[in-house]
Amino acid sequence: MKHIPCIEDLREQARRNVPKMFFEYAEAGSYNQETLRANRADFEKLKLRQRILVNVDKRSTATTILGEPVSVPLALGPIGLGGMMHGDGEILACRAAQAMGIPYTLSTMSINSIEDVAAAVDKPFWFQLYVMRDRGFIKELIHRAAAAKCSALMLTVDLQVIGQRHNDIRNGLTVPPELKIRNIIDIMMRPAWALSILKGKRKTFGNLAGHVKDTSNINSLAKWTASQFDPTLNWKDVEWIKSIWPGKLILKGILDVDDARIAVSTGADAISVSNHGGRQLDGAPSAIASLPRIADAVGSEVEVMMDSGVRTGADMMRALALGARSCIIGRSYVYGLGAGGQAGVARAIEILKNELDITMALCGVNKVSEIDRNVLADTETQQRP
Ligand code: GLV
Repeated sequence: MKHIPCIEDLREQARRNVPKMFFEYAEAGSYNQETLRANRADFEKLKLRQRILVNVDKRSTATTILGEPVSVPLALGPIGLGGMMHGDGEILACRAAQAMGIPYTLSTMSINSIEDVAAAVDKPFWFQLYVMRDRGFIKELIHRAAAAKCSALMLTVDLQVIGQRHNDIRNGLTVPPELKIRNIIDIMMRPAWALSILKGKRKTFGNLAGHVKDTSNINSLAKWTASQFDPTLNWKDVEWIKSIWPGKLILKGILDVDDARIAVSTGADAISVSNHGGRQLDGAPSAIASLPRIADAVGSEVEVMMDSGVRTGADMMRALALGARSCIIGRSYVYGLGAGGQAGVARAIEILKNELDITMALCGVNKVSEIDRNVLADTETQQRP
């Protein structure tokens, strides 16, 4: 994997390896994909300040996230269907993250279960929670995450209902794929993928199997989500979750200053400024454009993370400059998973770490804690804040 220089090349490799239905599920933004595009465009608009002849020989990307040491201010976020990008995808991604010294978040909608991952790795990982109508089941999931010694719970707060991703409908996304002629042809053209899935522990949602009805062949993931996920979820439920979860709590999916203030009042340990990778409210602003105001308002009271659109170390630099303490990635490592399993995820992390390291050097910065708005350029179109 060393020969792959950037996330974009991992993406191209994943596109070749993974059946269209699952690759496009990961790629998708909701509806017109305006917010998906804004996430990238707004990162690229932010110009960095080149500084020269600063001694940057002793620089380091190491820092902490929620008090734990990390090699780079980065966490792998929760992604649905990881085990459909590569067999045992969640176990492999968790191993890669832990070997690289960063946190991994297992999604509720994963293929490997909490217990599968816990049995396959030797350090704690994080668990992401979707709240379903069956609160007894949610309580049980939280207890399972605690029993597996997960060190943080990441509650996704922007998906009570699901934003439509057109390609999932066009492709007839199901888990596992329905054996229609066009799917069989697609799978036959991807034998390495098929073999990895066959060898994987599970073929459907590991956390839900045996607990939630009808997970064996979900005809439409979107319809199924609509029937199971709880649209009544509200701030009171966050209190309830906090009261039964013994570890750190992260609220992911905050895009508004008022919401960020309420999040702080719940006693959450961290928030992630996020629009779910452009997969939920289409027309919402980019996460990077929403970040500075939120970080200014609550950054001294809660650890601010950000996700949605991070593809390079330069993007990480921009997010840290605007007040994030760390970034979370989804697609950037999903591409690695599709491209080459554990080695591909490790390569994705290494690419971002190396890019951040060189970006820091060229901006004349030695430590992550030194990164602030002064690393942004003062140009005609961009006044340094
Ligand atoms: C689930 O989190 C999704 O975005 O598909």
